[in-house]
Amino acid sequence: MDMTDDRWTHTCDYLDTVFGRQDEHLAGLMPRAIEAGIPDIAVSASVGRMLLTLARLVDAKLIVEVGTLAGYSGIWLARGLCEGGKLVTVEPNEVHAGFAETMFAEAGVADRVEVVRGYGTPVLEKMAGERAGEADLVFLDAIKTEYPDYLPHAKALLRPGGLLVADNMLGSGSWWIDTPEGEDASRDAADRVNRLVAGDEDFEAFCVPLREGVMVARKR
Ligand SMILES: C[S@@+](CC[C@H](N)C(=O)[O-])C[C@H]1O[C@@H](n2cnc3c(N)ncnc32)[C@H](O)[C@@H]1O
Repeated sequence: MDMTDDRWTHTCDYLDTVFGRQDEHLAGLMPRAIEAGIPDIAVSASVGRMLLTLARLVDAKLIVEVGTLAGYSGIWLARGLCEGGKLVTVEPNEVHAGFAETMFAEAGVADRVEVVRGYGTPVLEKMAGERAGEADLVFLDAIKTEYPDYLPHAKALLRPGGLLVADNMLGSGSWWIDTPEGEDASRDAADRVNRLVAGDEDFEAFCVPLREGVMVARKR
């Protein structure tokens, strides 16, 4: 089953309808982003709800997101923060970063969000050096082939009990996890990270087949 399978598409639509309740800021955000020329690649509403819930479960004071796009997942995450908490979200594309900042302001969360212009690996590496063990949740949603590079820095950043969450761990537009090995570099990178995390004694991990697959790993 892949994202082109009717039953899977209907299942994801059902989950968004039933579990993806959202306010007007979130509902209107991606249509406006697409109008502005930003690609339609944000997480779904039910994944957003999952992110908010996970953030609340770990009483998140510091969340780090890699891949801001238009700020859709960032608003869900920011709303899951504790009082006084902070979301640091990393984005190299200036158009995306600027649009997201406007969206964060409109949604009333700008005071708890910092958009860092940069690439995932160096920003995570720097943050892991400065704030090791401080993050309550790290959400990876950027370049799949870079996920193996993000992993050690994300792990170092997390506190014990913190969550590593990664999107597209079962598929994305051009591939699904059953694509044969060697045919798609993104699939191979996702498979590698799934196996690395699942086999890492420092993590308790699972992957939810919600939309394109969300992996969740709790650092012991
Ligand atoms: C799938 S989108 C993120 C979607 C967003 N998390 C959401 O659900 O609303 C991926 C984003 O990663 C950004 N990006 C591209 N290369 C990157 C890199 N090397 N490091 C971090 N982000 C990158 C893209 O510009 C794009 O905005």
